[in-house]
Amino acid sequence: MPKPIVTLNEVSYRYPHAPGGTPPALSNVSLDIARGEFVALVGANGSGKSTLARLLNGLIRPAPGEALVDGKSTADPANLDRIRETVGMVFQNPDSQIVATTVGDDIAFGLENMGIPPDEIERRIEETARRFGVAELLGREPHWLSGGQKQRTVLAGVVALRPRVLVLDEPTSMLDSRSQREFRELIDELWRDGATIVYITHLMEEIVTAPRLVALQDGAIVYDGAPRGFFSQPELTASTGLTPPLAVRISQALAARGHRLPPALSLTELVEAVCA
Ligand SMILES: Nc1ncnc2c1ncn2[C@@H]1O[C@H](COP(=O)(O)OP(=O)(O)OP(=O)(O)O)[C@@H](O)[C@H]1O
Ligand SMILES: [Mg+2]
Repeated sequence: MPKPIVTLNEVSYRYPHAPGGTPPALSNVSLDIARGEFVALVGANGSGKSTLARLLNGLIRPAPGEALVDGKSTADPANLDRIRETVGMVFQNPDSQIVATTVGDDIAFGLENMGIPPDEIERRIEETARRFGVAELLGREPHWLSGGQKQRTVLAGVVALRPRVLVLDEPTSMLDSRSQREFRELIDELWRDGATIVYITHLMEEIVTAPRLVALQDGAIVYDGAPRGFFSQPELTASTGLTPPLAVRISQALAARGHRLPPALSLTELVEAVCA
């Protein structure tokens, strides 16, 4: 196997201000992500998804354990600039990530920090703003945007930097269902263009087509494999507190009534199974 772009080696993490007796946010997590992979990271509230995301760009450091990005440890402060160039993060709450007074300046901010020449910055702002549907908003104050418009602004700002790894922490939580679908298509596009994607969500509909699913429960990995394998184990799915996609729930309800169909992950698959 070629050298993974992201490695977590027996990583645990406890927040410094967590009350005594609280279990660690992550316990003994090991994970390798190859270049160009698409990994859906799922789990109930509090299962450790955002904590794992923060470890990937060195915002927090594992103890014990080791987090490596492109072979470089996040424990060495000298590596952090490189690591943050490699890993683009879209945080769960867009307000925490918007820094400038206009949408255009916000997208420009990271590019300026990277020392990109001004005409190239203009080009990238225009390209990403168009791609993420904020071209009309470039002059607006982010403070007054809707939640979904803020999420698009943040994503445009991160993608404009062309990171090799994109970590997206529930990036569609504020989008309407049509925008959610469009957004997933955009992420797939970035993935096809060669980016490595870590997509965090608790909406199972969004990730049935992901090649690899990693499920967290109480800070530990309880599943790592294809989504189909996860949803074909109803007890495991239930114990993680996640609701399977609608098609899976319908298949299971039909099976409970004696109608055995090949397991379906999407409504298209379900319709095909029923009609066959
Ligand atoms: N800054 C913090 N200080 C102390 N404890 C924290 C902090 N952030 C998270 N935790 C705790 O760590 C555990 C994991 O939280 P985390 O935010 O990683 O979960 P999550 O899977 O992202 O949940 P959600 O779906 O709600 O976003 C939880 O028990 C949470 O209470
Ligand atoms: Mg979270």
